Amino acid sequence: MSRTKTIGVLTSGGDCSGLNAVIRAVTEHAAGTYGWRVLGLRQGHLGLLEFPPAVVELKPGGTEDLLRSGGTILGTTTKSDPYNIKGPKGEVQDRSDDVINVIRELGIEALVVIGGDGSMRLFDRLCRQGNLNWIGIPKTIDNDVPGTDFTVGFFTAVGVVTDALDRLASTAASHRRIMVLEVMGRDSGFIALFGGIAGGADAILIPEVDYDLDALSAHVRDVTESGSNSVLVVVAEGISTPSGKKGEGVGNIIAAEIEARTGIDARCTTLGHLQRGGIPTAFDRLLATSFGVKAVELLASDISGKLVAWQGGTVVDIPLEDVVTGPRKVGRDSLLLKTALATGVYVGKLK
Ligand code: F6P
Repeated sequence: MSRTKTIGVLTSGGDCSGLNAVIRAVTEHAAGTYGWRVLGLRQGHLGLLEFPPAVVELKPGGTEDLLRSGGTILGTTTKSDPYNIKGPKGEVQDRSDDVINVIRELGIEALVVIGGDGSMRLFDRLCRQGNLNWIGIPKTIDNDVPGTDFTVGFFTAVGVVTDALDRLASTAASHRRIMVLEVMGRDSGFIALFGGIAGGADAILIPEVDYDLDALSAHVRDVTESGSNSVLVVVAEGISTPSGKKGEGVGNIIAAEIEARTGIDARCTTLGHLQRGGIPTAFDRLLATSFGVKAVELLASDISGKLVAWQGGTVVDIPLEDVVTGPRKVGRDSLLLKTALATGVYVGKLK
C-alpha cells in the first residue's frame, strides 16, 4: 500500500451530471482504501484565492447520495483562469503563482482535476509551472475531450435529448408539424448525433458536416409524403446558419427556413441547460466511478500528468499532450453517422 498523502480534488468548467459520483469515487478509494487525506477545493481554482482558502475535507462512508445527484458539491467556475483574474479595480492580474503556493501550503501533493479540454489545458500549464502532480478526469456533456470515447455527463445529456424527442414526436404528429430541437454542443455534434438517433430524428445537423437547406427541406417533404405525420429535426447549437449565426438561436433560424421552403408549420424547442442537470444515468455513474478509482490508482503508483480515458470498453490513462489539442470532433467516417444515413436520416452533405 502506498504511503499516506494529501490530495486535492476539484471540478472546473461547466457542470454536468456525474461530477459528484467522481468526487465520491475519488474520496472512497483515496481516503477509504488508502487512508489518504482528501481535500475538496471549492469553485475550481477560485476557492484557492480566497482567504482562508475555500477547501473542505472529504470523508469516506455514507456517500451514496453523491452517486445520484446532479451538479457538483464543490462548485465550479467557467471562463475564469488564474492567469487573468480581475482585481478590485477591474485590472487583470496573473495569480497563477498564488494558486500554486496555496496548493503547496495546504500540503496537497497531487490534484485530481475533473474538467473538459479547456480545463485540461489550463491545469497542464499551471501544474507544469508549479511542478505539481496531477491527474485529469474528462467530463462535459459535449463529449469533445480528445482521447476518450466518452466523458462524464455525456450520456445523461443524450438521455435528456432522447426524452425530449419522445415528447415532441406526439405533439408533432398531432399537429402535423415539423419540430426542431436545438441541443448543446459548442464545437462538436456528439449530443445531436447520439440523441438524434436514439430519439428517432429525421434529420440531424452537426457542426462537422455542411448541410443544404433545400436538400434538408426536400427530405422533410419526402418524410411527410411517405405518410409520417411528424418530422423531427435535431440541430446542434454549433452549426452555422447561412447568415453566419452560430450558438443559441440557430434552431429557430433552421425552423423558419424549413417552414418557408415546405409550407409546413415548424416550431423550435431549445433544450439549453436542461441537458446539464439532473440525475446521472447508470452509464455516467459507472464511468464516473471507474474514472475516479483509476485516478487514485495512478496517484498511488506515483504517476502524474495523465488523463484517464474510456477506450473500447476499458479505462486507460493517456498523456495530457494527446488531450490539450481539443476539442474532439465527430469523424466523417464515424459509425453513428453511417448508422444515421443507413436508417434514412438526413445528416448533411456527407459525400
Ligand atoms: O461545454 C459545455 C456547454 O454545455 C456547451 O454545450 C454550451 O455551449 C456551454 O457549455 C454553455 O455554457 P454556459 O453554461 O456558460 O452558458
